[in-house]
Amino acid sequence: MAEKIDILVFNSSKLLTLCCEGRPLVGKKMQDLGVIANGAVAIHHGKILETGTSETLLQKYQPEKTIDACGKLVMPGFVDCHTHTVFAGTREYELGMKISGATYLDILKAGGGIHSTVNATRKASEEELCQLASDKLDEMLRHGTTTVEIKSGYGLDYETEKKILKVIKHLKKNHPARIVSTYLGAHTFPKDMTREEYMKLIIEKALPDFKDLTEYCDVFTEEGAFNLSETEAILRKAKELGYKLKIHAGQFNDLGAASLASNLGAISADHLEFVSLKELDIMKKNGTASVLMPGVPFFLMNGKYPDARQMINNENIVALSTDFNPGSCPAYSMQLIIALACYQMKMTPEEAIVASTVNAAYAIDRLDVCGSLEPGKDADIIILNVTEPAHIPYYFGSNLVSKVIKSGKQIEK
Ligand code: NIG
Ligand code: FE
Repeated sequence: MAEKIDILVFNSSKLLTLCCEGRPLVGKKMQDLGVIANGAVAIHHGKILETGTSETLLQKYQPEKTIDACGKLVMPGFVDCHTHTVFAGTREYELGMKISGATYLDILKAGGGIHSTVNATRKASEEELCQLASDKLDEMLRHGTTTVEIKSGYGLDYETEKKILKVIKHLKKNHPARIVSTYLGAHTFPKDMTREEYMKLIIEKALPDFKDLTEYCDVFTEEGAFNLSETEAILRKAKELGYKLKIHAGQFNDLGAASLASNLGAISADHLEFVSLKELDIMKKNGTASVLMPGVPFFLMNGKYPDARQMINNENIVALSTDFNPGSCPAYSMQLIIALACYQMKMTPEEAIVASTVNAAYAIDRLDVCGSLEPGKDADIIILNVTEPAHIPYYFGSNLVSKVIKSGKQIEK
């Protein structure tokens, strides 16, 4: 007698299981997508029961519902492990400034950049921010992203940071995407407080008060934002309170934040356009993931991409992300990021897919529930209108996703 199950996805060209047995994939292991030709996935109670060939699983199970992949590519939903999705307003006008030669840090120092988004976000109500972010998450889901990390950071005062974290919490409960929450009050210094006042607010009030609202604490360590000793003070306090740690490190200058955060136990150091081999070795030793976001140098037009090849050759844990935000990468699509990773950072399509699923799930400590198609994990599955993994970067610029399944539920477009 065939076993009754909820859903069987069958008839793929290839099923990419990304089988990783609970560990991130590094070095040459990033070439192996765990391919099952004409593969199928058995789903029950929203979780993956088994993967195998379509022939075997069609015989073994009696599904209540079948999803015919029609000879297309089937893989885990993308994990976008670094975004700033909750904000109001847009910054398309910065393009003219960039074309005229202004850098990101020039615009920030002149009171634009993050500050202009802070002004708009402070004025918006919790409901407005919720609707704006929810629409953005819908668009990410339509592009195959089923898990999204979201940072605060466009409030830069106690009330607005709290408002943003409450929005993230609401989305976590009510949006179909899996959401992971990060407090990034240390995004830059607000215009209406001294450095000392804002440091005091973060360390003595915000961090203790927000502990139960969020999971991670992140700091943007950069000229024009937080220096190394301020970063250390914030991360140490956050760690003491039980936050998990992340860091924005080496986006424009190597201030040593990647190794500092790694030695404090950070799960990831993100950006890394500027990072030394010595720091990469420290990250490797501590199991700190390198989250690379090639949409950022593309959008900022500075031509400086992280050295992904060096990191992969060094067996660092390499993940990819959009960095979705209004100022340095308003791109929803992990498919586009995979293309940029291949064409600008010389990652292979296989490496870029591993970095957008398994390793990205590791970078937010969710490898137990998502990032690969293995028994026991949530059934977060996408079907793409192509047949080969390398078609994802090949057909760059289009949304190739035809179906999205999140925790065993098909998402209506
Ligand atoms: O990750 N680097 C700092 N923060 C964002 C950009 C934020 C903004 O410009 O609004 C980033 O690139
Ligand atoms: Fe960021």
